[in-house]
Amino acid sequence: MCGIVGYIGKERAIPKILNSLKFLEYRGYDSSGIAYVKNNKVNIIKEVGKIKALENILDINIDSKIGLGHTRWATHGGPSVKNSHPHKVGKFTVVHNGIIENYLEIKNELLKNNIEFKSDTDTEVIPALLDFYYRSDKNILSVIKKTINRIKGSYAVGIICEDDINHLYAFRCGSPLIVAKDDSGYYIASDVPAILSFTNKYIILEENEIAVLESNRCEFYNLNLNKIKKEIKVFEGTYETIMLNGYDHYMLKEIHEEGKVFLDTLNYYVKDNSFKDTMINLKKYKRIHIVGCGSAYYVGLIGEYLISEFANIEVTCEVASEYRYKKVFYNDSTLVIIISQSGETADSLAALRMAKENHVDTLAIVNVVGSSISREADYTLYVKAGPEIAVATTKAFLAQATLLSLLAIKLSGKLELLKELNGIENKIEYLLNLDYRDYAKEIYNHDNVFYIGRLIDYALCQEGALKLKETSYINALAISSGELKHGTISLINDNTRVVGICTKKEIMSKTISNLKEIKSRGAYVIFITNEDIEDDFYDKKIIIPKVHDIIEPILTVIPLQLIAYNVAKYRGCDIDKPRNLAKSVTVE
Ligand code: G6P
Repeated sequence: MCGIVGYIGKERAIPKILNSLKFLEYRGYDSSGIAYVKNNKVNIIKEVGKIKALENILDINIDSKIGLGHTRWATHGGPSVKNSHPHKVGKFTVVHNGIIENYLEIKNELLKNNIEFKSDTDTEVIPALLDFYYRSDKNILSVIKKTINRIKGSYAVGIICEDDINHLYAFRCGSPLIVAKDDSGYYIASDVPAILSFTNKYIILEENEIAVLESNRCEFYNLNLNKIKKEIKVFEGTYETIMLNGYDHYMLKEIHEEGKVFLDTLNYYVKDNSFKDTMINLKKYKRIHIVGCGSAYYVGLIGEYLISEFANIEVTCEVASEYRYKKVFYNDSTLVIIISQSGETADSLAALRMAKENHVDTLAIVNVVGSSISREADYTLYVKAGPEIAVATTKAFLAQATLLSLLAIKLSGKLELLKELNGIENKIEYLLNLDYRDYAKEIYNHDNVFYIGRLIDYALCQEGALKLKETSYINALAISSGELKHGTISLINDNTRVVGICTKKEIMSKTISNLKEIKSRGAYVIFITNEDIEDDFYDKKIIIPKVHDIIEPILTVIPLQLIAYNVAKYRGCDIDKPRNLAKSVTVE
């Protein structure tokens, strides 16, 4: 997803902006650009590809004390220099994250006023509108207000006006934006990691608030253009927490943090086998809707099994982009749980708002503190994963699964189950230290991999297949074992690789007979289980330490993550920043 940075202060802007842009790379992008001021004029440099390419054509010694930077993830108009940000129309230069839904209508109107457009983007209507209003109104704040009132969609925007180069303006709605401060000046950024090498002091810009930054001060306004006071927050993590610390990739580093992440999440809600006050009381809810996207949806499926199984409550889990558009039935005892690592995913946020419009209680399970979903939900339970940089989520998934186990225990009232979580971190460490390269070697040069399992194992299969697809670009399909015979088995031959997951004794024999059918058709089978079964229906197996069902999924996901990582490594893929993917999908 696009990333924004901006700086105004006493020091040179370009090196700072380049530095921050590198921390935004993980969000996914295909081009980048920088705007700076020279001889009172705004200059723009843009390039397709990696930030390195931009750096190569940029003179970092340019003495501009104000600047904007952007990483673009193409939505309207392909990746190209002309479509990259910043975009300048007349006096206004803009960087934007989000989508302007009514841009065509605005563009057609402005074209009639002889305003020229150079790109295919929706973004360009923002500087065009600003410049258009500015012709008859020289008050920039009022021009920004008019622009906000005219555009629809999601946006975080940074602005420089050539007539006012001592100020940097910013506003947002839907897409995230923070303002940060250090001794040298002020920053804007899409997230905290982008500015963490300069400062840990930041302010969250709320919807429809406008920030006006100067070299030594900063003011905030609401949409009525009344001045407002904002709270300065201090980011808890350190710069080191988002550095590689010797690992080859963030994905590997983050997987190896899973023992700590489990403990941090557990200890935040539980002490001496009892819940702390940080865990909310959920007694009154008899029906739960879990909603999320991507891995957050798959972990939601795990929650669905755990909560319905242990707490005897009706739970459904849905993909947010479907949920928000379908007919949903609520009653007084419904709770909607939105799961999101970033807390900014557009469809998940829309699903949350839909539930709130229907006056249904909402609970957010979120990793990023202060994110939109966490702020808008009635209740928020944070997972303690820390900053996650790799696009493919790993440690946040494990933290979410841990929290869902805790929720299932809380809702079930079977508090004695909490002791089953003791010592799990040692089992996590054991699994982290196994060597997965031989499994990966069996997979990396094949085109199709199937993951099969039933019930909660099927949810894990979906996450395992997604991890492999995302990081290695192999076609990986998760199939509920019972469905194999209804079609997919026709694809099985001696070239197929199959990962079979079975961690439940009750359904062990069912999944094993499916694996036997697969094996007899020549496929190569990797069996992941917690029973040490000696048989000939698999070629290789991974034994997961035996633990209580309530916490089992967080162990089984680890080999799936590490197999995906090692396969991607053998295939030479860009593991932390897979092609076409974004860490946080803030547009629909
Ligand atoms: C993107 C990411 C996935 C993530 C999904 C939901 O697709 O690439 O890894 O699971 O968004 O993101 P969220 O931040 O809402 O959990």
